[in-house]
Amino acid sequence: MDLNTKSGRDSFSSKFGVIAAAAGSAVGLGNIWKFPYITGVYGGAAFLFVYLGFIILIGLPIMLSEFMIGRKSKRNPFGAFKNLAPGSSWKFVGLLGVLAAAMILAFYGVVAGWSIDYVIRALTNSFAAKSPGELESSFTEFIQSPITPVIYQLLFMLMTMGIVIVGIKKGIEKYSKILMPLLVVIIIVLDIRSLTLKGAYEGLSFLFYPDFSKLTADGILSALGHAFFSLSLGMGTLITYGSYIGAKNNLTKIALQVTVADTLIAILAGVAIFPAVFAFGIEPSSGPGLVFITLPNVFQQMPGGFFFAPLFFILLTVAALTSSISILEVVVAYFTEELNLKRKSATVLATVLISIVGVVCSLSMGILKDYTLFNFNFFDLLDWISANMLLPLGGLFISLFVGWYLGREKVVEELSQGSSIVEWLVRIFIFLVKFIAPGAIAIVFLNGLGFFSF
Ligand code: PFF
Repeated sequence: MDLNTKSGRDSFSSKFGVIAAAAGSAVGLGNIWKFPYITGVYGGAAFLFVYLGFIILIGLPIMLSEFMIGRKSKRNPFGAFKNLAPGSSWKFVGLLGVLAAAMILAFYGVVAGWSIDYVIRALTNSFAAKSPGELESSFTEFIQSPITPVIYQLLFMLMTMGIVIVGIKKGIEKYSKILMPLLVVIIIVLDIRSLTLKGAYEGLSFLFYPDFSKLTADGILSALGHAFFSLSLGMGTLITYGSYIGAKNNLTKIALQVTVADTLIAILAGVAIFPAVFAFGIEPSSGPGLVFITLPNVFQQMPGGFFFAPLFFILLTVAALTSSISILEVVVAYFTEELNLKRKSATVLATVLISIVGVVCSLSMGILKDYTLFNFNFFDLLDWISANMLLPLGGLFISLFVGWYLGREKVVEELSQGSSIVEWLVRIFIFLVKFIAPGAIAIVFLNGLGFFSF
């Protein structure tokens, strides 16, 4: 029985739409400020090597697993496990995913709000003639203020809601098809600018020179955590998107294309950022500081900076938007299918609830910064729990589910839709999801929590 037609569920209408939406989910803030920085810090090509290993051995098979679970069940993550494993506890993996989605979007929306504010700053030329110290204090004052960042965060949440509320075809797919090509064009323009600056080479070597001495245990856990975060894995985003993919599509090919696109764009972002930073003799800073303090400093010295600065922050906002819609959709699909809400009410309700948590995140940078747990403020706590704990755990269970619970026959049935089956590929896939992915996640995870010492 085709549940899709029975329930009149919305779906993607074209293959390009599927890829644009899934790559849109994967390519986000993570690619643009997090990947370049952690690559530089943990040994350039040495880190890249480990990251690519995780992407191929763990990321790709889990992405395919999520697509399969989604397309097979045609449900939100909670409903998907309930449908495929009735009466079991697997559904709690889906529920954990919905929770992780809400947590991630709460802090993600805050950073995306900052990037809208910086689009406006760039357009009004407000970085000009500011000293590095002034740029830093203006960023710090801004994120600590109780009003302006909240307004931009809410504006971003409204934009996300505006796209999700109209549905898959007319909202998520339509906008991803416009925004993703725009993003690629912008990043290429920025790459050309950066690589043609004098002294660009040093930035490339920061990014690519393999320095294995910098590759610590922490770096390896970061590589795993980031593989999950960057590919949008472990919380059912791609289960949800998978549930809107039609039977004609070849899931293996789509997973491969999305993974390659995400990795390429992360590398292109590094190439846009570091050569420019080093060309002006600036020390790259970590995390949000890289994008919101270092880069404004770079742009104000760069020939044509008044043009490239807004372009960069538009890129950041667009990347964040195509990711945030995928995160909100997880919660919306859950609300519509499990709580029987109409799409409109589900979207409004999810946006309001997540925005409230997001406002607390934003305030935890300033007036609420003294409320900490394990030394983390609320923002960092949500980031840490969701990205470092919930996503790898979710990924672990998803791979165990496909490898051990669903089993070979159902995997073959799903993979053979839209393509002819390649026996050795199926064998490798099953081996990866049964043993390699869960084993590697468990080791890296326990090591990161300090259980071993290598
Ligand atoms: N992949 C996005 C990024 O790299 O910014 C973030 C993200 C989206 C994480 C969707 C998780 C998710 F389910």
